[in-house]
Formats: sequence, C-alpha cells, structure tokens
Amino acid sequence: MCGIVGYIGGRPAYEILIKGLHRLEYRGYDSAGVALMGEGSELNVYKTRGKVSDLERFCSSKDISGTIGIAHTRWATHGEPNDVNAHPHVSRSGNIALVHNGTIENYHVLKEALEIEGCKFHSDTDTEVLVQLIEYVKEKNKCSLIDAVRGALKEVVGAYAIGVVDTTEPDTMICARKSSPLVIGIGENETFIASDATPIIEYTDQVVYLNDDEIAIIQRGQPLQIVDSDNLPAAIDIKTLRLSVSQLEKGGYPHFMLKEIFEQPRTIQDCIRGRVASSGDEVSLSGVTENKERFINANRIVIVACGTSWHAGLIGKRLLQEIARIPVEVEYASEFRYSNPILTSNDIVIAISQSGETADTLAAIQMAKKCGAFVYGICNVVGSSIARATDSGTYIHVGPEIGVASTKAFTGQVTVLAMLAMAVGTLKNTVSKETRFAVAKALRSLPSLIKQALRLNDRIEKLSSTYTYVHNFLYLGRGYNYPSALEGALKLKEISYIHAEGYPAAEMKHGPIALIDHELPTVVIAPDDEMHEKIISNIQQVKARGGSVIAIVTKGDTTIKEIADHVLEIPMVPECMSPVIVSIPLQLLAYHIAIKKGCNVDMPRNLAKSVTVE
Ligand code: AGP
Ligand code: GLU
Repeated sequence: MCGIVGYIGGRPAYEILIKGLHRLEYRGYDSAGVALMGEGSELNVYKTRGKVSDLERFCSSKDISGTIGIAHTRWATHGEPNDVNAHPHVSRSGNIALVHNGTIENYHVLKEALEIEGCKFHSDTDTEVLVQLIEYVKEKNKCSLIDAVRGALKEVVGAYAIGVVDTTEPDTMICARKSSPLVIGIGENETFIASDATPIIEYTDQVVYLNDDEIAIIQRGQPLQIVDSDNLPAAIDIKTLRLSVSQLEKGGYPHFMLKEIFEQPRTIQDCIRGRVASSGDEVSLSGVTENKERFINANRIVIVACGTSWHAGLIGKRLLQEIARIPVEVEYASEFRYSNPILTSNDIVIAISQSGETADTLAAIQMAKKCGAFVYGICNVVGSSIARATDSGTYIHVGPEIGVASTKAFTGQVTVLAMLAMAVGTLKNTVSKETRFAVAKALRSLPSLIKQALRLNDRIEKLSSTYTYVHNFLYLGRGYNYPSALEGALKLKEISYIHAEGYPAAEMKHGPIALIDHELPTVVIAPDDEMHEKIISNIQQVKARGGSVIAIVTKGDTTIKEIADHVLEIPMVPECMSPVIVSIPLQLLAYHIAIKKGCNVDMPRNLAKSVTVE
C-alpha cells in the first residue's frame, strides 16, 4: 500500500501535501513525489527515490507555488523504487498528473493497446498506464476529465485509490477508489483527499469515506459531487472524526501489530490476486513461468532464511516436496553461508525475507550464486537488496509490515510458497487434478477463513490474563504445524519476553516432557488432520503430568474439548494450508499476553525490524 494526498483551496498546497505525506509515510516509504498547479496553470511535478524528507530537499530550490496539488509516498508493487517509477505519473501531453494506491492487474493488456495507439511509456509501473489511458479516453471522446476518468476506470481490473489533476481544468481535482481506501476532508472553501484521515485531521474533522466504484468531483468554490460508475449521483455521507492522529495511523488499532494481524484477510487477498484463478485449479507465478526449465530440471531446492521467514521455509519444504515432488532442505541463512555448501547449477536456492535486507540471507544468496545455483527470492519489499540480488522471484504484496514481530508477512510467505508448489507441481505434472482443485480452492478461501479465525480475538484476550505471569511456554505441533509451533513460540518470546519453545509433539517424550508441571502451560496445535489421533495422546501425556493445555482445534472437535484446559476453534482447512489459519490464534495469544505484561509490542526490546548486520 502507499499514501496519497491531495488539496484544492485557498492556501499554498505544498506545505499541506508534504505534511500529509509525513503522516502517511508508515504506509510506504521507497519514493515520493508531488504535482502542483502553479498560478499560470502550469504543472510542476517533483519526485524522487527515498523518503519524504528526500523529496523536501529536492523541492527546496523549486517553484512550489500553487493552491491545488496531489502527492504520493510509494510502496512499490510494479517497477523498482526509483525517480522514474515514483508518483505522480504524467500523461503524454504533460497536462494530467495522477497518484495511485493499489495495483492495476490488467496493465499489460492496456499498455499494449495504448502502445499500438502510439503511446510511449517512461516508467515500469502499472500506474502510468492509467494516466495515459485517461488522456487517451479524453482525447478520443473529446470529453471532460471526470468522463475520461470514468471511462478509463471501466477498463481497469484491480485495486485503486487515485487523485487526478489536469492543467486544462485547473480548478478541478478528481478522486476515485476501488478496494483501496480514500478519505475526503471538507474544509472551509478547501477540500483534502488522503489514503486515511491522518493528513486531514488538523484542518477539518468533517470527512467523507469514498465507497468502491465512486468518483468524487472536487471543484474550487463548488460543493462536493460524488457519482457512481454509471455517472449517477451518490449519497454524500459526512462523518465527524473522533480519533487522534496516532490512532488513525494505526487504523484505529492500539498497535501496528494488531492492525497487521487484522489486515490479513485483505493482505492474503492481495497476495493471491492475479495468481490464483477465481475458479478452477489454475495457479500461476510469473517467476515460475519465466524459468520453467529451471524448475523442471531442479535436482533439489535449498531454502535459506532467518527467524519467522525460516519457519515459513519449513512449511515450504513440505509443500514443495508433497506437491512438486522436489527434495527440499531448509537452512538458517547464517549457518548456510559458512557451511561450504555443495551446490550445482541444477540446484535452486530460495531466499525468503520480508524486509529483503537481512544480512545473513543476503550473504547466503551471494554464496549460492558463487556455487552456480539459481536463486529465487520471496520478498515483501519491492526493489530491496535481496529482491535485486536474486535471479527471479515472487513478491508477497502484503504492504509495509511496521510491527517488528512478523505476522502478515509470515502468512503471505506461506501463501506464496503454496502457490509456488502448485505452479511447479502443475509444470512437472506431479500433482493430481483433485489436489490442484482442493489447494486452489483453499487458497481462494483463505481470506474468509482468516476472518473466521480472527473472531477468536476477544476469547484470547480474556484467556491471556491467565498466563501473564508464567515464565515458560511449550508449543507442540506435528507435520505442517511443527513449524507453526516454532513460529508461535517465537511470536510469544519476542514480544512478551516469556521463554517459549516449539517442538515436534512426538519429540516431547524424548526430553522436554521432563519440564511438564502445573507451572508450564503447553499450546498444542491439533487441527483435524491425519495426525489427530497421535496429537490427542500427546495432549494426554501433558495432562497426565499436571500440565495445562491450550489446544488449537478444528471447529467442532469434541474429543479434545474433553481433555484440554482451553480450546480455540479454527475453521476446517486442508492440512497443507492450515499453518496460515493456525497462525492467527498464535499471533493473537502472543499479542495479548505481551500487552497484559505491559510490553512494547511494536518495538520489543533488543530487536529491529530488519537485521542488516551479522
Ligand atoms: C520475526 O517476527 C522477527 N521479526 C525476525 O525473526 C524476522 O523474521 C527475521 O529477522 C527475518 O527477517 P526478514 O524476513 O526480513 O529477512
Ligand atoms: N502499483 C503502484 C506502483 O507500484 C502503486 C503501489 C502502491 O499502492 O503503493 O507504483
């Protein structure tokens, strides 16, 4: 996601826009830009890679006059973060400028059609296609800006929140949205637009939240107009803001971590969008399509990562081995880089990293490339060092993850790994049609299943009081959910500072069971899968030694309800996708226990969001 801001009124727009971008920088921070309409209606566009402060320095010697303008702080999805790909993007004539939050899924098709019409493109972004299309429609139909925007958006498939200005209509700003958020602030003879209310709240508390498929026409000195995609007037529902800036930045949540936990239905939707067919069994990743031979001929895959990303890698191992039938090893990047690995050009190394800047993972990539392996990246930050160091890859597209404890990135990584296994398995014909259908269906249903799992929040918040003062936790899981146990333990220890250990459930009797007593709670991940009977006996072993058990079970599991102390029910999901759903109660449990302990969940002690040193 990124941040967009717009202003039209009687005051100098620049200061308002820049201040607004600072308020939105938590939404995306790889490049920034501003378009200002000067007194003579000329359009001044300034944009640069880097943070908003870099843009301010860039503008310090420029003409920043004008009382109408739009601005953008970017979180790249299409096209590396650089000056050219930064927003605002400008139409061929230079008259129209546009800022965009979202993804234009069919931008390739639209771009080709516009190139046939003689349109030249300067950037690698999907957004530039939209501004060129708006001008194309405007010129072809000799229509107004609003009609051109409406006509262009009818051709677009994807998500957008846009702000548009046009030198030929210097007293007008158009904004529109579909899936991405957009707020309009109503001031005294001035109007603001923004991705959320944080840039607006210091000027007015009167806001309108634009709805999907609505377009707002904002004209100097005129009342706000909103129309739907059929150009019919839409209701204007003005609300009064009652949240603080800090609360607004977190979307009304008390912490970024909780906001990011609750964002997961949308972020997984964004992750699978354009990759999992809306019906049937087709799953495609451009990184696989462009490297078919590599994956068909791969002898083995080595996954390198750190922390939560390493846990995702363990799940990826099972997915790739079961679905794509390729032998997989999973290595801590920090160990791999010094292990003098035996790799050949028939090996694929997959590097998983949310930040794309983890030093150990980057070094592992360099080592792998030195050995001649093909390196594939699974990152969140577009254009990050790891994304650029790998031969190909897949972005997880979950938007900026601000909380140090990884949540939405983990579920995004596991989702991409499932899609990767499906794409490669289909290529190698190692996966049956019924499995393809089942996994594709499960991938499509993840957003709604996550929504169901999030309903456990209040229950877990209450349950967390019971465990505020314990000193140790054991997490047990089997099969796909042994890595879930490791991840649940990491979540708890890194934000609550309670020692927690994840273990394969069957391994407990080889030592850890000696730890069990009434002071050691055990979380057992026990969904209804092929290991269900076995995990029940593991729970009984813990109970027999006086341990208390929190069991994560499939909804309706009456057996475990009889023996565990607390049961958290999640919806039924195929085993290979269960770690995505299981992780929701695990994230919530860690969050609420840490809050009860008064810990700083967004910035835990001793930790950093990206470990760029050895
Ligand atoms: C996870 O909650 C931690 N923040 C940490 O283990 C993290 O996963 C690890 O440092 C790897 O980071 P990366 O995914 O950005 O490479
Ligand atoms: N898809 C657009 C780009 O990559 C906008 C990304 C965003 O919403 O941050 O520039």
